[in-house]
Amino acid sequence: MIILGIETSCDETAVCVVEATGDLRSPFFSVLGNGLFSQVALHAPYGGVYPTIAKREHARNLPSLLQKALTEAGLFSVLDKSNSSYPSYSPLLWQKAKEILSKEDGLLETFTELVSPLKRPNIDLITVTVGPGLEPALWVGISFAHALSVLWDIPVQAVNHMEGHITSVLLKTGEIKNNTSPTPDFHLQTSTPIQFPTLALLISGGHTELVSIEHWGKYRKIGQTRDDAVGEAFDKVARMLSLPYPGGPEVSRKAEKARTEHTPKTFTLPRPMIHSKDFDFSFSGLKTAVLYTLKEHASLTEEMLCDMCREFEDAVTEVFLTKTKKALEEVGAHTLIIAGGVVANTHIRKAFGEMISHEFPEVTLCIPEKEHATDNALMIATAGYIEHLLHPKETRSLLKADGNMSF
Ligand code: KG4
Ligand code: ZN
Repeated sequence: MIILGIETSCDETAVCVVEATGDLRSPFFSVLGNGLFSQVALHAPYGGVYPTIAKREHARNLPSLLQKALTEAGLFSVLDKSNSSYPSYSPLLWQKAKEILSKEDGLLETFTELVSPLKRPNIDLITVTVGPGLEPALWVGISFAHALSVLWDIPVQAVNHMEGHITSVLLKTGEIKNNTSPTPDFHLQTSTPIQFPTLALLISGGHTELVSIEHWGKYRKIGQTRDDAVGEAFDKVARMLSLPYPGGPEVSRKAEKARTEHTPKTFTLPRPMIHSKDFDFSFSGLKTAVLYTLKEHASLTEEMLCDMCREFEDAVTEVFLTKTKKALEEVGAHTLIIAGGVVANTHIRKAFGEMISHEFPEVTLCIPEKEHATDNALMIATAGYIEHLLHPKETRSLLKADGNMSF
């Protein structure tokens, strides 16, 4: 089936077209078109995501990203005005779509300009993130998906963003698909076999959790952060060190520098909750420890800065390794999935690769490729397909943003 994926939960606006085949045991995805606009530069001056800007930018960029994804997929076809079937949509449908879109500032105008002359594309399912995330941002994507589904009469599948991160491991870049599209810059995706029970460590800007997965669709959260998410901690520590937003990649670069240059170790940070009996995490104390350490030093040399980043990354990684090992045993997992934006971190990827091969060789480690680790629409299409296979029902009437959506 051909799936349209839409993601607007935070500061990435993304739309894709994916061809999904196979069953729950071996789902298979071909990326036909993919558009992503990162708003990072716009939020950087605020040192974090500014919801009003995120909402405005989603409304501004969704239509052009839809155009890009459809064009790449060979599904963008504009009707000739002299054609007797133009305009192709009934006034009644337009009225319904208008009502949905007019709730989002600026969306109706950009949507109408793009979609009104468009021939209905051959799409079987629309998938859209409904939570967790920033509600005003989520609503833009939901309204966009809803209006398209009304006009084109296509069912919509509501998607949990965190399930999207989990299923991002099903996307693997392979050979380039042979097709007739004018812009064949997309890839054939091959699936990774997942064996249940599976454990997922989800590490992103908004979440840090350990999830036990009995089978697709059956998720049980067994641990979570009690305060800051790990990505948030990376970003806050970066800000204290005057590194640009988003801080994760910057802290990681400095930490790598300390490792390759064998910078002497000056700082020691705590490993919060590393020996607690549960599977919960806490990162606000670690962040505060960085703050107090910095207060003891009038200024930091580049070497000291890099050492601090390395020590912070080491502390986070050690906590994750210890808790995950315990959880793997508790769950009896055959597969470990690590997903969410922070898994773009080279050190964490390497540390888990080594840990699994030395201590749990019977467990398969599944980590998304770096390009699929941070927010994107492909993971929403993959999760939407999995949910569709589990519950092939119409969910248009259930479309509602849920900022705190949880497993
Ligand atoms: O999953 P994501 O794209 O958005 C949310 O759903 O939150 O994750 C974004 C987070 C940010 O906090 C960012 O700093 C962090 O992922 N991040 C990283 C790296 N790349 C992105 N953290 C550590 N190392 C990285 N290389
Ligand atoms: Zn995310």
